[in-house]
Amino acid sequence: MLVTKKILVCVTGGIAVYKAVAFVSKLTQAGAEVKVMMTASAMEFVTPLSFQVLSRNDVYFDTFDEKDSSVIAHIDLADWADLVIVAPATANVIGKLANGIADNMVTTTLLATTAEVWIAPAMNVHMYENKSVIRNIGQLHEDGYRFIEPSEGFLACGYVGKGRLEEPEKIVQLIKERFSQPENQPLAGKKVVVTAGPTRERIDPVRYISNFSSGKMGYALAEAAVSLGAETILVSGPVELPKPNGVQLINVESAAQMLDAVLTKFDDADMVIKSAAVADYRPKEQFTQKMKKQDGDSSIELERTTDILKTLGERKTGQVLVGFAAETNDAIEYGMKKLSTKNLDYIIVNDVTDPDGGFGNDTNVVTLLSRKGKTYPFEAMHKKELAQVLLRTILELESDVVNDS
Ligand code: CTP
Repeated sequence: MLVTKKILVCVTGGIAVYKAVAFVSKLTQAGAEVKVMMTASAMEFVTPLSFQVLSRNDVYFDTFDEKDSSVIAHIDLADWADLVIVAPATANVIGKLANGIADNMVTTTLLATTAEVWIAPAMNVHMYENKSVIRNIGQLHEDGYRFIEPSEGFLACGYVGKGRLEEPEKIVQLIKERFSQPENQPLAGKKVVVTAGPTRERIDPVRYISNFSSGKMGYALAEAAVSLGAETILVSGPVELPKPNGVQLINVESAAQMLDAVLTKFDDADMVIKSAAVADYRPKEQFTQKMKKQDGDSSIELERTTDILKTLGERKTGQVLVGFAAETNDAIEYGMKKLSTKNLDYIIVNDVTDPDGGFGNDTNVVTLLSRKGKTYPFEAMHKKELAQVLLRTILELESDVVNDS
């Protein structure tokens, strides 16, 4: 359920840091992508290495240690997160946040994020009941922060009372419930098929015709579909990308294999997104033995592959069909033409000459065209973010269709 969810855990200094270690471990086991940030006091209890190993990511603790010169770490992490959770949250960090103080990696990130922030306090019972702490917690409630109340019991300081960090299992459960709310899972119960990557059309056992598609956009779309609750099938040509969590991956090589795989999944699919760069031609003849060079020039006769998307457009019963068009000029015009000749509901057009888009890049610039002839341009965005935005836009447009009818 937490697959593809990006969770930033901010660890501040109290004895409950040891429980944050278990919490991060359980979060990663639940499929979430976890990054950890620590204050200097937190590092007095546990070293960053524990969190690094469990989260399988770098741990951040120094605002001025910029590991990647292309971004500013605290802003980048603030933007990255779907949810930020401060666990354990000391009286100190609660006080700083309530007063807008940003004097370390954790507090600057907390001020910079627009994601939802949860606070799981842990402290001595008398500190928790201190008027200033009560006042700060009240302020943060008013500011829209969500609190995970500490539980009662034996405290490390010897007291019995309220102040224990909530159990890691319980916090993970609350996060799962948060992400399974219907508004966060608009594709729950739906089946989405995504195709990605290039196809390879064999000439002989050692040679093939292909293209430069990296598969990044398709993989990002499959991940986004999973995160929105869909049962997701990813039909992928040969790419160098890890299998996204939560998808059913079908590896194929050629256009013909992709056609077969997609057709077996098409009838009960609710949406098909064809982001694969399918070869339009294949060698008419495939040699079973390696072709030997001859004197002089040579040529290979090519024949058309089946247009998978067009085939789906002819067969579709109620599936939302989304195609892609990679163009170098007159992108909207060509896109509109493909949308209608292939009987699509949407087409995502990208100008592959744009330096921020196209094959291999992490970012993309696209325009979504709808069957109603409307155009929705998007600015340059990371493909992962763009995938979310595109799917949410399509779902919104589809719900308008339902509401209109
Ligand atoms: N497509 C397909 N099967 C093919 C070729 C393309 O399903 N044999 C799909 C792609 O997955 C993509 C869309 O069709 O969604 C691209 O349309 P296409 O007409 O092939 O565009 P181009 O490859 O850019 O072709 P053209 O040379 O006509 O511009």
